[in-house]
Formats: sequence, structure tokens, C-alpha cells
Amino acid sequence: MPSVLEQLETRREQARMGGGQRRIDVQHGKGKLTARERLDVLLDEGSFEEFDMFVAHRCVDFGMEKQQYPGDGVVTGWGTINGRMVYVFSQDFTVLGGSLSETHAQKICKIMDMALKNGAPVIGLNDSGGARIQEGVAALGGYADVFQRNVMASGVVPQISVIMGPCAGGAVYSPAMTDFIFMVRDSSYMFVTGPDVVKTVTNEIVTAEELGGAKTHTSKSSVADGAYDNDMEALYEVRRLVDFLPLSNREKPPVRPFNDDPARIDDSLDTLIPDNPNAPYDMQELIKKLADEADFFEIQAEFAKNILTGFIRLEGQTVGVVANQPMVLAGCLDIDSSRKAARFVRFCDAFEIPILTLVDVPGFLPGTTQEYGGVIKHGAKLLFAYGEATVPKVTVITRKAYGGAYDVMSSKHLRGDFNYAWPTAQIAVMGAKGAVEIIHRADLHDPDKIAALTDNYEAQFASPFKAAERGFIDEVIMPHSTRKRVTRAFASLRGKSLTNPWKKHDNIPL
Ligand code: HXC
Repeated sequence: MPSVLEQLETRREQARMGGGQRRIDVQHGKGKLTARERLDVLLDEGSFEEFDMFVAHRCVDFGMEKQQYPGDGVVTGWGTINGRMVYVFSQDFTVLGGSLSETHAQKICKIMDMALKNGAPVIGLNDSGGARIQEGVAALGGYADVFQRNVMASGVVPQISVIMGPCAGGAVYSPAMTDFIFMVRDSSYMFVTGPDVVKTVTNEIVTAEELGGAKTHTSKSSVADGAYDNDMEALYEVRRLVDFLPLSNREKPPVRPFNDDPARIDDSLDTLIPDNPNAPYDMQELIKKLADEADFFEIQAEFAKNILTGFIRLEGQTVGVVANQPMVLAGCLDIDSSRKAARFVRFCDAFEIPILTLVDVPGFLPGTTQEYGGVIKHGAKLLFAYGEATVPKVTVITRKAYGGAYDVMSSKHLRGDFNYAWPTAQIAVMGAKGAVEIIHRADLHDPDKIAALTDNYEAQFASPFKAAERGFIDEVIMPHSTRKRVTRAFASLRGKSLTNPWKKHDNIPL
């Protein structure tokens, strides 16, 4: 009997060594952790339960029968993050470059199926040379099996991808269908075709980092939602994000202990809005002053900075925040910011996370670049996302809410539950100057008259009261009491029940 136990331990030890010490050293030499070390950082200590440690590939071509590594290049199983269950896979680059074989894919599919059945997030740590070349179409089929599960899991359990090494070819499409992608700076990249193919086809000379590194995908393409300096930081941040999320669409987001008075008054907010209506201020300041313990987990911080998206807690409960940022492009909506915010709103709605919208928007960005780029369709995404969302929606207009952008930003008309405005709000079709220049075109030769008409327009329309008179604004609130008002609003909405008409699915303008 003891020899059988020893045999198990020996086999386990062999599996834990992955592709061997030499390759582990190479991995460390690149500043990367191994697949198992990453799981140790990501999961609560001692919580990892592994599946399929001894799975072996079945390929006998190209001498592959002699290259057997127990586990076949991916470590899979489940564990906990701050006591809450998650399913994980972690690709082992030391085994055949973490390449995906048929059996490697089956291991990933198994934990995805279990995650769906049991209602827990899937976290994938990607570090792979892509489809295992020796297996050909069997590996491609394996990828497609994973893709199909990504689609089935979308909106049912949160899916998080961390790119911690190469991710190329069609392999990028599995992360692309998950809810969040995080990358590690200087050691991870994603692209459909690498620099060599790019050079052959388009004559462009580009490095892997420029083509698909963390900076490219967080600031240019918006494929990734965040980037971190090293493996440890990325994994710690994923733990932090998971704390904000429900385990599945069958559960409410977690409620965390909090150490911050929900009725906290912040007098500094009374002077947040500058006297000059065109001067910027930092909307981040408002978000942090509203949040429990100023904790804001920002999503896509480096992309479309004219809108902010991310998670905070109020009374310990997760709230998704969407906020125009007057510091960038005056906070206007454009193609990128509409897409960014729409995807975030849909995530929140899918997982029953209430949405707080902070509005200071002078309208949609004009211009041929925007029109040719389809700002109509992309702007409609955000409109559509807010309109279909049934989660509690609380809106605060701090300053400008002009034109179509007023409607879009979770207005009363899109089933906003609580629509507040600060006394500094200006809710109008457009700014006073533009409005007067259109409706008093005949007087444009007379600057004094135009100035007087502009003052008059401002006095009449540059306030929240016209909207409040119609009930489009539920209440004009003091800036200093915003945390209290918003927290009470969400508390009152905990029993909210709203459903959309039955449909197979909607047809959001993609
Ligand atoms: C089999 C692979 C492999 C692969 C790497 N290896 N990629 N084995 N299939 N796809 C093996 C190498 O042979 C090597 O084995 C070990 O992994 C480490 O690879 P190195 O090249 O030494 O490492 P490095 O220099 O860091 O380069 C990493 C790399 C490179 C950039 C990923 O290996 C590479 O370009 N690989 C091929 C990538 C690729 O074209 N994949 C197919 C993409 S198409 P030893 O034994 O020496 O340690 C695709 C389609 C998916 O994925 C479609 C889905 C629909």
C-alpha cells in the first residue's frame, strides 16, 4: 500500500514540474511566474483543488508520443478568492509553449462546464504559443469548443482573462469574448497575425510590443481593460475585481463590511464646479468622494478618457459608475466613449449591478471623423444599453446635460429611477451661445443684443429647474449631500423589479 501512495506522490511531483527545471528557469528569467505559482498568488492559500493533473495528449504524429507531460500544458481546477469560489485555468508555457492540444482544450472545457453548472466565475491565465502545431485541426477544434463555451457563459458567470505571455492567432478570440481582459506590461501580447506576417502582407515593420502589447491594447484598440507591471500585480488586481462581482447572474453582488458613514457630508463638493462653465474639473474626485473608502476599480482607464467606468461600493454594495470626464474633450460623447460605456453598462445589467451615472456632457463630438466612423451607430449603443438596462439606475447631473447626450446618459426617459441634479446643472438642447446664434441669426450683426439674448437664455435654460418642473429631474440636491442621497436611493431600490418584453435576444446596433 505505501508504495501505491508513494507512486501517486511521485506522479504528482512529476506533473508539478511541468516542462522541467530548465524551462521553469527560462520562464523565471523572463520575469514570469509559472502556471502554478500564478494560481498560488491568485487563489486563497491552500484553496486550490486541481482536476485532470494526469491528462495526457493523444497525438502520435511528429514524434509527439515521446513528448508526454502530465497535465498537457494547462493547470485547471477551482479555488477561492476571499472565500468565494472561482474556476481557473492556467496555461503552462514550460510544456510545449503552453500550446493548446485537443486534450488541453478538453480540460478547459471541463472547468467551464462546471462553472456554468455551479454558478462561479471563470478566470483564465493565458500564456500559450496557440494551437499545438503537431495536432493540426484537432487543436483548432479544441479552440472552437472553448469559444462556444465562452458564448454560453457570457452573461451567466463572469469571465476574466489575464494575458501573461503570448496570445496569438485565433487564440485571441477566447479572451475577446470574456468580460474583462488584463495584460502584463512587456511580457504579454495579443494579435491575430504576428509582426512577420504583417511585414509580408502589408509591408509594415512593427515590433510585437507595438503590434499587440499592453499599451496598444489598453490605449489604442481597447481590446484590454487594464495593464499591470508584473504577474503579481495583475493577479492581485484580479482578486480585487472579483470582490466586486457576483458569482453568477443567479446571485446578487457581494456585500462587504464597510467603514465609511453612508450619510457622510462632503462640503468640498459644493465648490467642485468651477465658476467658468467651460473650465474642467476632475470627475474622478467626485467618484472617489462618493465611494466607500474612496475605493474605485477603474475599467479601461487608458482608453476614451472622456468617460470613466468602473466599480465602487456604497454601503458595502457594488455599484457600477459611468461618468463623463470634463478633463478630456470637455467630457463629450464620441465613438470610443460610447462603445466603452455601453459595454460596461451591459455587463452591469447582465450581473444585476446597479448603475450610478454622473453627467457633465456638452453633447456628441462633431466632425467628419466621427460621422464617417459611425458615431450614430456607436452612440446608439450607449442609448440602447441604458434603455434596456433593468437594474437600479441613479443619475446625478453635475453641470452640462446638453442635447441627445442628455437623453443618453441614463435620463428619466430611459427609465432612470432617481434622476438628481446639482443646482449648477444646465439641462438644455445646447449651450446658450450656440442656441442664440441659431434662433437669433438675424441679430448676429449686433453683438450687444446677442450678449443680452445669451444672458437671457442662460438665465432661463442654464439650470436644472425647467427639467425639474417637468419631473424629468426628481430632485435638485446639494452637492455636499450627494453620497447620502445616492446611497439612500440605491437602498430604496433593492427590491426593484422590472422586466423587458420576451424576445429571443435584442438587436443592439453592433
Ligand atoms: C507546439 C509550440 C508552439 C505551438 C511554441 N511551442 N509554440 N509547440 N505548438 N504552437 C514550443 C516550442 O517548440 C518550444 O519547445 C517551446 O514551445 C517554447 O517555444 P520557443 O519558441 O522556444 O519560445 P519563445 O522564443 O518564447 O517564443 C514563443 C512563441 C513562439 C513566440 C510563442 O514559440 C512561436 O511563435 N510559436 C508558434 C506560434 C504560432 O504560430 N502558433 C500557432 C498560431 S495559430 P521546446 O521543446 O524547445 O521547449 C493558432 C490558431 C488558433 O493558434 C485558431 C483558433 C481558431
